[in-house]
Amino acid sequence: MKLSQLAQNILLGKNLEDKTIDFSSIEFDDFDCLEVPTRPGRSAQIAMSSKNAKFPKGHFNLDEKKAMALNSFANHELLAVEMMACALLIYPHHTPELKQFKKGILSTLKDEQKHLKLYVQRLNELGFEFGDFVLNDYFWRQMKLLKTPAQYLSVMALTFEAANLDFAFHYQQEFKKVDDFKTSEILGTVLKEEISHVSFGALYLNRLKGDKSLIEYYQSNLPGNLTPARSKGQFFQASLRERAKLDQEFISWIQSYQDDFTVTQRKEWK
Ligand SMILES: [Fe+2]
Ligand SMILES: [Fe+2]
Repeated sequence: MKLSQLAQNILLGKNLEDKTIDFSSIEFDDFDCLEVPTRPGRSAQIAMSSKNAKFPKGHFNLDEKKAMALNSFANHELLAVEMMACALLIYPHHTPELKQFKKGILSTLKDEQKHLKLYVQRLNELGFEFGDFVLNDYFWRQMKLLKTPAQYLSVMALTFEAANLDFAFHYQQEFKKVDDFKTSEILGTVLKEEISHVSFGALYLNRLKGDKSLIEYYQSNLPGNLTPARSKGQFFQASLRERAKLDQEFISWIQSYQDDFTVTQRKEWK
């Protein structure tokens, strides 16, 4: 399959089947880089909303609360899938380095499709449909600001996926506490693969940063509306970041990073 065909199918297709299309050998075809569309293709059931999604404050023993959490987890996976497909279309790949970068995105994208399917399947087992609760557009709103691969990796890998390490770890424990081992196991699978996604970002940004420190380079590539505080959850997991090959200096800096935004104190996965 051609790269442009695959990425457009995922980004502009409306149904979950389009978003989770299976792929193996991909041909890097020539095409004019796309502008970021206002919104990805979405059927009514999985329509994107600018409303804030409610995330349950515990009570994960109740199926409805489980479903709300799973809907939110799946939403993040779907947004990651679409943003990755979008990245394949908006950046060029005329050099071996850029081709390598897109190969990294393709393999990450495959994992995100898997995560999305796992969460949706679990949601269905509980008697709910994906999209029964609000699907917010927060991650997507960043996409138009990501003009370069370095900005994309700073936001996607070192911010959103890095925060996911803390969240996936935390909720893996929370679901275990209520004996929902199935959901806990899915979070464990996601967590393991998320570590490799963060390390893909760390590896690349370290390669691109030249003489700058990773801290300096990362900060210079974050859009103004995003703070490094967005790259962590309430319960900071330094060891998971070590496993993702982030250096000690960077990890300590993120851990102690504070700003004026209330987001640093956020307790929910939004
Ligand atoms: Fe994921
Ligand atoms: Fe990921």
